[in-house]
Amino acid sequence: MGVATAEYVNYMKALSTHVAAAERSHPSSREAAPARPWLFFRRWIANPLQMGSVVPSSAALCARIVRQTRRQPDEAVLELGAGTGVISRALLAAGLPPERLFVVEIVPDMAAHLRQALPGVQVIEGDARALPELIPPQWHGRIGTVICGIPLVLLPLPAQRRFIDAIEAVAPGRGFLHYSYCATSPLPARRHGLVGRREAWTPLNFPPASVWRYVPGR
Ligand SMILES: C[S@@+](CC[C@H](N)C(=O)[O-])C[C@H]1O[C@@H](n2cnc3c(N)ncnc32)[C@H](O)[C@@H]1O
Repeated sequence: MGVATAEYVNYMKALSTHVAAAERSHPSSREAAPARPWLFFRRWIANPLQMGSVVPSSAALCARIVRQTRRQPDEAVLELGAGTGVISRALLAAGLPPERLFVVEIVPDMAAHLRQALPGVQVIEGDARALPELIPPQWHGRIGTVICGIPLVLLPLPAQRRFIDAIEAVAPGRGFLHYSYCATSPLPARRHGLVGRREAWTPLNFPPASVWRYVPGR
């Protein structure tokens, strides 16, 4: 780790400790923050590669993802790596019935928060690589859009492949949306047998973000 990065991490740790103390003395301030950015922060400090970002997705990014989300009335939407649930909330606000939304989150604290914050939504605590076991069999093939927030760009090719295969197993032929802070495609689409297309971009996110759609190539 470089000196600047180490200093930044130390700064974030100190900030997080300070905020945790403030939350303890004013518990209502914690409940009032719908996106729980400090929960996100603490998880970023604990495991930056798993989080991929320092702060939750912005409203502008959520709006772009919602716009790209499609499903038939009898289909569900599946969000992988839901974090603080800001995208889930935007989907619900746009009219998605809660029982038609599955969210998968690997961090127990975040899954517990999602369960509390998203009543009626099917919150699954688990590793998205195990999707075929996590999603009830009656929903396999009935998922209109998969939204992937897991930072796949940070993973080696075989590890990316495991996520892609897991998605294909529960949503065959559908591909997935993937938001990312990369200037170019976060996945080597052709090497995974996918076709990738940037559907949207917003500078109103930290860092600026794109929404990519990957579908199986023909
Ligand atoms: C970029 S963050 C999601 C941000 C989210 N949109 C928000 O604003 O809160 C990525 C999320 O993926 C989760 N994650 C990472 N690896 C995962 C895995 N294998 N299965 C499920 N969730 C995972 C992390 O815990 C984190 O919450």
